[in-house]
Amino acid sequence: MKSIFMRKNIVAGNWKMNKTLQEGLALATELNTILSNSKPNCEVVIGTPFIHLASIASAIDTSKIGIAAQNCADKESGAYTGEVSASMIKSTGAEYVILGHSERRAYYGETYEILKEKVLLALKNELKPIFCIGEVKEEREANKQNEVVKAQLEGSVFNLSAEEFSKIVIAYEPVWAIGTGLTATSEQAQEIHAYIRGLIADKYGKETAENTTILYGGSCNPGNAKELFANPDVDGGLIGGASLKAADFKGVIDGF
Ligand code: 13P
Repeated sequence: MKSIFMRKNIVAGNWKMNKTLQEGLALATELNTILSNSKPNCEVVIGTPFIHLASIASAIDTSKIGIAAQNCADKESGAYTGEVSASMIKSTGAEYVILGHSERRAYYGETYEILKEKVLLALKNELKPIFCIGEVKEEREANKQNEVVKAQLEGSVFNLSAEEFSKIVIAYEPVWAIGTGLTATSEQAQEIHAYIRGLIADKYGKETAENTTILYGGSCNPGNAKELFANPDVDGGLIGGASLKAADFKGVIDGF
């Protein structure tokens, strides 16, 4: 049974560093056509590379498919060569920004402090952060997943006011399940999602916690989406590989 609270179910694609502009436009417009013909039972978001954002925003119906960037700068503006600010992202028509993805934490040294700044700048510019948390394999094997996600939340988002926090989507992505074909079992996902919701309740109260959308990410595909999304505390998915083909992504969306 799904909750009676107001939280949204969301299926969000994370294209990562895939697709040229032309390929990305083709995928986004194909998806737009598919979803115009068959209305989804959840909100749909696509997370594209920066350079695709503006073109895709003008090519699709953004009231049907929300657009997300995959990162933003931790500075407002100025002499930061190569960086893209939250206000620039907002100006393209994007609505969301994925922050704290494990690939950014691992390969680009994004610390709790840096992510805290990014989240604040996203909110200041009226972008909704999809904030990613999750443990690596060794931490899961040592049964430390709960303390890891707790530290990640405390380090970068539990500084927010309840009103600010209510604009955030959380994505639990066990790093050992990303791109590996290994999915968390439905029980593992439900267990840690319920734990995360409990942490939010302790910090912000039950109502805020019940209204928070918590996505699962990590080898989610058309074959396992339905079972994962059926869990009471799993409110959708953040989808990598299976978001790169319209038919696969639609298969995941149909998990709802
Ligand atoms: P995969 O779905 O390819 O495992 O990637 C998940 C992910 O990292 C989404 O952000």
